This record gives sequence, C-alpha cells and structure tokens, in this order.
Amino acid sequence: MEKKIALTGIKPTGIPHIGNYIGAIKPALNLSQTCEARYFIADYHALNSIKDPVQLRQLTIEVAAAWLASGLDPEKVMIYRQSQVPETHELLTILLAFTPKGLMNRAHAYKALIQKNREDEKDIDDGVNMGLFTYPMLMAADILLFDTDLVPVGNDQFQHIEMAVDVAQSFNFIYGCDAFKLPQPLATEATKIVLGLDGRKMSKSYGNTIPLFTPEKALRKLIMKIVTNSQGIEDPKDPDICSIFSLYRHFATDAMVAELRAKYHAGGMGWGHAKQELFEAMNAVLSPLRKTYDDLMDNQDYIISTLKNGSSNARELASRKISYLRTVVGLD
Ligand code: ADP
Ligand code: TRP
Repeated sequence: MEKKIALTGIKPTGIPHIGNYIGAIKPALNLSQTCEARYFIADYHALNSIKDPVQLRQLTIEVAAAWLASGLDPEKVMIYRQSQVPETHELLTILLAFTPKGLMNRAHAYKALIQKNREDEKDIDDGVNMGLFTYPMLMAADILLFDTDLVPVGNDQFQHIEMAVDVAQSFNFIYGCDAFKLPQPLATEATKIVLGLDGRKMSKSYGNTIPLFTPEKALRKLIMKIVTNSQGIEDPKDPDICSIFSLYRHFATDAMVAELRAKYHAGGMGWGHAKQELFEAMNAVLSPLRKTYDDLMDNQDYIISTLKNGSSNARELASRKISYLRTVVGLD
C-alpha cells in the first residue's frame, strides 16, 4: 500500500515551547515513522507578526534546529522553508478565486480580532491586514500543494483544515476531477491542550511558556513558578485538574505516573515536591535534546544547508503540481 502523506508547519514567531513539542513536533515525528512526511517552517505566515528581518531569520533557524534536535531525520523527512517554495503563492492566487469572502469572515483568528475591535469601540478592521484575513488560504495552499492526506496539528488549527477541504472540494467539483486530495487533521490525545505556567493554554501569546531547550537551571526555576492552588501539604490533591501532573504525564513512564498519582491521592505531598518530580522527569527527557540543539545552533551552516536541500526537493514536487493545476484551469 502506498504511504500516506503527512504535512505540517510551525510558524517561526517565537522560541519553540513545550506545547509545540508535545502538541505538534512529537506527534508529527511519530507519524513520520509510517507516513511520507513533509514538515516546514511557515515563515510567510510569520511575516504577519514578525516585521524584523534579523529576528525572522533567527527564529527560522531556531525552529528548524528544534525539529532536528527533537529527532527529525532529514534523510527521511522533507524539511523546508515555506518561503523557498514560491509555488505556494501561485496556488494561493488560484485558490483565492474559489474562496468565498464569507468563508474567511468565519475564520476564528479574524473573528476574534474584529470582535475585540467592536468591544473596544474601534473600527472593526483596525489592525487587520490582508495577510491575516487570507491566512487560512495560505495554509490551504501549503497543504494542497503536496497532496497531503494527514495534517498533525493542535485542535486550534482544525477549522483551517476544514476550510482547505471546502475550497478543494469546490475546485474539484467545478473542474470535474480530483485535482486536490482532501486532507484530514490529526490530533492525538496528547495534542489536546498543554497547559502553561498560569494554567491557561501554553502559548507564546500568553507569555506563559516553558521554552523547549531552556537550560537546566532556568527550567527548574520556571517549573517552580507553575501556579497552584492553596492546598496544604497534608491535603489529598486531584491530579486530573493539575497542570504539574498534566505535564508530568508527557515525560514520565506509566509506572512513574501511577506512582505520582497515588501520592496526589494520599496527601502528605506538597506542590514543591510535585514540581521537583516534574523537573526531574522533564530534564531527563530534554537534556539530550538540549545538547543536540546547542550543538546545532553552534553549527548553523548545517541547519541552513539542510533547509536548502529540503526546500529544493519540496520545490520540485510543488512545481510539478503547479504545472498540472495550470493545465486544469487553462493557464498552461
Ligand atoms: P503558539 O500558540 O505558542 O503561538 P503556534 O500557534 O505557533 O503556538 O503552534 C504551533 C503548533 O503547536 C500548532 O500545531 C499548535 O496546535 C501546537 N500547539 C501550540 N501550543 C500548544 C499547546 N499549548 N498545546 C498543544 N498544542 C499546541
Ligand atoms: N497555522 C499553523 C499554526 O498557527 C501553522 C501552519 C501554516 C500550518 N501552514 C500550515 C500547519 C500547514 C499545518 C499545515 O500553527
């Protein structure tokens, strides 16, 4: 049987954090064992928010290093920069001709922004640029260009994938062919939502993240900052509503998880102790990755050449798809 194609992108808009690792990087790497995987740095998407070229370049390298340090093997997985595959834009322009404006009006990031403007009694389009408005279609272009079957992402991205499917279906219907494969989002139990230091979703936008490769001392300090309730040492605690425990589950073995669960229920364990256990489990998993990350960051030429290589392979596939699509629509 032919292998399925898996594709996902991460925007270089900040230093990768534990939420990105558990929610996106790790499941994507697991999937690459059974699928043909194409993973990229969504630098054009990042341009909506990062307007400093030095920072954009730096973050692009850091996200690529995060993929590589987490175990991505560039011999097996195609890793590339979105901006080095300009066919993406050709496809975006094609797709926009099949995209009802109303569909974009319903995109959640856009909707949230105009809702906020309304509440603040500002012009509803204040701060909305067209890059944000058409964001879901740029993402659709990323996905459809590579005949993607599966898109491993967090639940927050599902709506965008549904939109890609909507537009792909109308295109296929109009031309009476299967020009586009219909992709499916893929979230595992783990990707649901990783909680941050303050108990909300861990996100760059909330400033509550644990950076993936933060040095050991800083990691411990951040973990000690996780907000907890005011239960005392003797009180039994509920592991299932605790962000320390929910992080622990991703880094400890089943036996360790069961043991800590029992300690929560029994009482007699303070939050400091739970945090120390979390630190030790996390550090044990992340230390070797951090070492690889630091080595990669000291040898950025390797990262750059890996991205160049991957991008040129991606471009080859993309240009074949675009010439086929040009024929379908009559632009050949
Ligand atoms: P952020 O919210 O920090 O800006 P991104 O939007 O760049 O993160 O997310 C990149 C990938 O990581 C996406 O697939 C997203 O679903 C996933 N992701 C980000 N934060 C979390 C989280 N807290 N829990 C699970 N997955 C997450
Ligand atoms: N929008 C995604 C995010 O914010 C990043 C992204 C861009 C992406 N293009 C994609 C994810 C294509 C999956 C497939 O996280």
